[in-house]
Amino acid sequence: MEPIDDRVLVTGGTGYIGSHTVVEMVEAGFTPIILDNLCNSSMESLRRVEEITGKQIEFHNVDLLDMNKLEEVFENGSISSVIHFAGLKAVGESNKFPLKYFDNNITGTVNLLKCMDKYRVKNLVFSSSATVYGDPHKVPITEDFPLSTTNPYGRTKLYIEGIIEDVSSSDSEWNCILLRYFNPAGAHPSGKIGEDPKDIPNNLMPYITQTAIGKRPILNIFGNDYNTIDGTGVRDFIHVVDLAKGHIAALKSMLKRNKGCHYYNLGTGRGYSVLEMLHALEKASGKKIPYQIVARRKGDVGSCYADPSKAFRELGWKATLNQDDMCRDAWRWQSQNPNGYEPITENEQKIP
Ligand code: NAD
Ligand code: WQD
Repeated sequence: MEPIDDRVLVTGGTGYIGSHTVVEMVEAGFTPIILDNLCNSSMESLRRVEEITGKQIEFHNVDLLDMNKLEEVFENGSISSVIHFAGLKAVGESNKFPLKYFDNNITGTVNLLKCMDKYRVKNLVFSSSATVYGDPHKVPITEDFPLSTTNPYGRTKLYIEGIIEDVSSSDSEWNCILLRYFNPAGAHPSGKIGEDPKDIPNNLMPYITQTAIGKRPILNIFGNDYNTIDGTGVRDFIHVVDLAKGHIAALKSMLKRNKGCHYYNLGTGRGYSVLEMLHALEKASGKKIPYQIVARRKGDVGSCYADPSKAFRELGWKATLNQDDMCRDAWRWQSQNPNGYEPITENEQKIP
């Protein structure tokens, strides 16, 4: 494929969604330049991305809070656009350390926007989240739903959306796409890259796969008294490769100079319950996964799934992978990498 003459800075590019997006970018002919401080990722993910793509990727170990180093990347970079993934994302941790979240996510984004403004790089794709819809009054959720938040992490996404909107309406050169992800799941079909929580997983899917492989004794299901198909929470799980492709669609739409600030839901439009996901992973792994029902988790909502039709209409993107694909790929990643990107010990080699 002819390379697209477009050097795109990817902040957070060694993380879960960033690494999958970098793979798709290379395949689509873009030149990704990764910036990451590795606070929640590792160089091994970059090495694996290079293995999958067969390309060497430019990497900068830079913290968005370090304005001098950030400027150097822009000064020497010939960057045309930015995809901004970098941020902290653990809801529970954000309740304990809100200032850390405001500093890292909000100040980090303001620094990035200042550099972009200074070096006249005014094309931005930002990782927002369905968390900005708070407790939705109905489902499916469209982009014009009222916005609210239940935790400091969510507040950073809400504020950053507002900041980007203000910046883009101050100067008609800006071209911003804000992607509201629903629940990313799964891994690259090669099994080489995937989600690698550094601690006890906060999210459902890595918790399920770690329980299936025996790293966790039992899955706690947070409530079975919601008004859903089986009482457990319903979410719009989206394969991370589909999500990554949503960024390619956004980049291509920016190349057409679609100026302003645009919001899109990236979801499948279909919700699955916690129990449905558990049983699908049992099928994919061939393992019985122990679980128990415990109290609801504070701040959780019953049902949350997208109406993704705006992204299809305007970006030509829609999810194509299904629940079986997500579970198969999540299990392949987990079983081939029981320790994530950490080396496998002799004992673990015996795990199937
Ligand atoms: P991740 O933690 O795997 O990736 C984020 C990356 O950003 C990490 O590699 C981390 O090292 C880097 N980073 C954090 N702070 C930084 C800083 N100050 N300077 C430089 N690098 C920094 O998370 P992810 O799941 O890939 O999420 C990517 C983005 O998508 C985040 O903004 C997250 O809030 C958003 N998002 C994630 C989900 C989800 O469920 N995974 C859902 C909705 C939105
Ligand atoms: C999904 C369902 C839980 C873990 C979070 C953030 C959101 C976004 C995506 C970044 C819920 C249940 C979970 C477990 C369980 N992230 N669950 N046992 O809460 O929809 O969204 O991640 O933007 O901001 O809030 O995702 O994976 O944590 O939970 O029963 O051990 O699984 O109650 O119903 P959530 P999740």
